[in-house]
Amino acid sequence: MLTQIKDLAQTLAPRLLEIRRHLHAHPELSGQEYQTAAYVAGVLSSCGLQVQEAIGKTGVVGELEGQGQDGRLLAVRTDMDALPIAEATAVEFASRKPGVMHACGHDVHTTVGLGTAMVLSQLPQKLPGKIRFLFQPAEEISQGASWMIQDGAMRDVSAILGLHVFPNIPARCVGIRYGALTAAADDLEILIQGESGHGARPHEAIDAIWIAAQVVTALQQAISRTQNPLRPLVLTIGQISGGRAPNVIADRVRLAGTVRSLHPDTHAHLPHWIENIVASICQTYGATYEFNYRRGVPSVQNDAVLTQLLESACREAWGQERVQIIPEPSLGAEDFALYLEHAPGSMFRLGVGHSERANYPLHHPRFEVDESAIATGVVTLAYAACKYWDLA
Ligand code: NI
Repeated sequence: MLTQIKDLAQTLAPRLLEIRRHLHAHPELSGQEYQTAAYVAGVLSSCGLQVQEAIGKTGVVGELEGQGQDGRLLAVRTDMDALPIAEATAVEFASRKPGVMHACGHDVHTTVGLGTAMVLSQLPQKLPGKIRFLFQPAEEISQGASWMIQDGAMRDVSAILGLHVFPNIPARCVGIRYGALTAAADDLEILIQGESGHGARPHEAIDAIWIAAQVVTALQQAISRTQNPLRPLVLTIGQISGGRAPNVIADRVRLAGTVRSLHPDTHAHLPHWIENIVASICQTYGATYEFNYRRGVPSVQNDAVLTQLLESACREAWGQERVQIIPEPSLGAEDFALYLEHAPGSMFRLGVGHSERANYPLHHPRFEVDESAIATGVVTLAYAACKYWDLA
């Protein structure tokens, strides 16, 4: 089976390169993946999959029938959206859309998803059960997964696999992570209401800027002194605004930020814990506040059995030296986590790093991938999808 998969991937390599370059040249922003979705649907239909469009707004679902003796359903998820970044690479297939770029490798993900569907559909024998390919929109704004789920994309799914490119891992290598892969990411907004006054007469005013400064400092110190240091927590206030003139005490300040955590207990108590600190400082100095906390995506927790499946598929396909066990999670966010509320799953990192030149990070205008990674991703996913049915 592995040899057949590798041969098919090799035969399909020129076509996959063409697909990837087409997608890269025609990026679309989150929620606007109309052309991409139509293109994906076309490729899936030509492979004989049953295709549904407009699942999760601009998402696409393709199903590959199996022999049917195994009632389980395996899902493979990729994402399709690009970023509002002006591409600064010199590649001939660079973005033709000003200010929009596939700078997070979702063009590669989509290509790998399509390549996996092509390979599995061309195997001489059908798989024991059904495979559902999810091409989701709007991952960059953490919305696409929930749109897909609302439209039934996870109905009857027994397990789900996914991937993300990673420039710090060399191309042709794969990163496998047991347990937490990414963090829970929540949004925070704090509005502090004081009372305006003359800059020379602080005793007649309630200085919202000074109180906001206390809040920012107290939150950082409280993380260090009240939170378990073995359970990571990052709180970043990325926006602060308030005040009208240098000699006028500000009556109102807005703070906005992001809160990243890994442990479910930490995540659960965050809003209450943060609001208590804000409330006590505001109360002490006579201000009032408004507190808005929005739960974002939870942490991606890779399932042990499915991670083992990916690892063994990689080791058989590529040998020990091309498989890395990732020692630490990332505090980035990934809405793949939402699918895991419906079925166990695992996500791996596909190395796309060039060996001879500098690798720019994800979301960088000069981000480039080593395209040899596409075949690695296709074979890894296709072979894992074949081995899945052997799991008890
Ligand atoms: Ni991404």
